[in-house]
Amino acid sequence: MNFNEELKKRTDEAQDIVLDYLPKAGKYDGELVEAMNYSVGAGGKRLRPLLMMSFNRLYGGDGVSIRPFMAAMEMLHTYSLVHDDLPAIDNDDYRRGEYTTHKRFGEAAAILAGDGLLHHAYETAFKAFELCSDKDAVIRALLIFGDKTGINGMLGGQAADVINTGKRIDDGLMYYIYEKKTGALIEGSMMIGAALAGASDDDLETIRRIGADIGMAFQIRDDILDVTGDESVIGKPKGSDERNNKKTYVSVNGLKKAQEDAEEYSSEARRLLEGLGVNDGERAFIGELFNYLCSRDK
Ligand code: IPE
Ligand code: IPE
Ligand code: MG
Ligand code: MG
Ligand code: MG
Repeated sequence: MNFNEELKKRTDEAQDIVLDYLPKAGKYDGELVEAMNYSVGAGGKRLRPLLMMSFNRLYGGDGVSIRPFMAAMEMLHTYSLVHDDLPAIDNDDYRRGEYTTHKRFGEAAAILAGDGLLHHAYETAFKAFELCSDKDAVIRALLIFGDKTGINGMLGGQAADVINTGKRIDDGLMYYIYEKKTGALIEGSMMIGAALAGASDDDLETIRRIGADIGMAFQIRDDILDVTGDESVIGKPKGSDERNNKKTYVSVNGLKKAQEDAEEYSSEARRLLEGLGVNDGERAFIGELFNYLCSRDK
């Protein structure tokens, strides 16, 4: 199977797992549940669960106890997008090829749907205790999940991004914002996959650095697509960053240097990956995935 076929197969697998853990509507919470499930169901690349699965396989994991974590990470990521699109933040109308949640259901419902996905992400992750006899491994994964999603992770970066919008930011602050708002969930996904398969603390630190590099490459490519992308392919508006007067890697460094640096981060990640884990075939797939992520068109 070539890389693209394998990627498609795995994306479909991740998609099935994520959808499986979505909440079911009860008698009086139908609107909340519909708004929560709307943006998750709209699609997306499912990159974070995919990375989690790959790093689990890299360390010979059984792919079972990570299933709730795969779904939880995608729910948490989707909550961050629902809130990112709100009028008070990036004010965007389209996401994953559909109206954003607030355009479709109204602002109050979108705020609550984001909150709902955040809570449901944790409820879902806790289900790993039912699937895994090694409770300490689940606790280790939960600690990573909390750290990489909260104020020391994605939320911290998103807050710094929002607070500094329109302001001049130096290279250090830009790295902080990118590594946290985007890198943290990528780092966490890789680390949780490996941790549940018993990777050592030293290996987890190397994986964190790999995730940080891939996070930078991924967000720089996102900034590039905000300028050069095809809206029907990216599924969200172009020009959002410029409209919001946002200093991005592209507005500061130009398109050419941004692309070169994304490739540099990606090749550094591939260098760190060498020799890691126990599954050679999986390592090769991850290397190809890293290559693809800095040249993707969606
Ligand atoms: C969008 O993430 C937000 C960023 C961190 C750049 P993705 O590009 O992974 O969005 P989906 O999940 O495919 O919709
Ligand atoms: C969002 O970054 C990162 C989050 C933590 C949500 P962007 O604002 O660049 O993401 P897009 O371009 O809207 O997907
Ligand atoms: Mg944003
Ligand atoms: Mg945005
Ligand atoms: Mg963007």
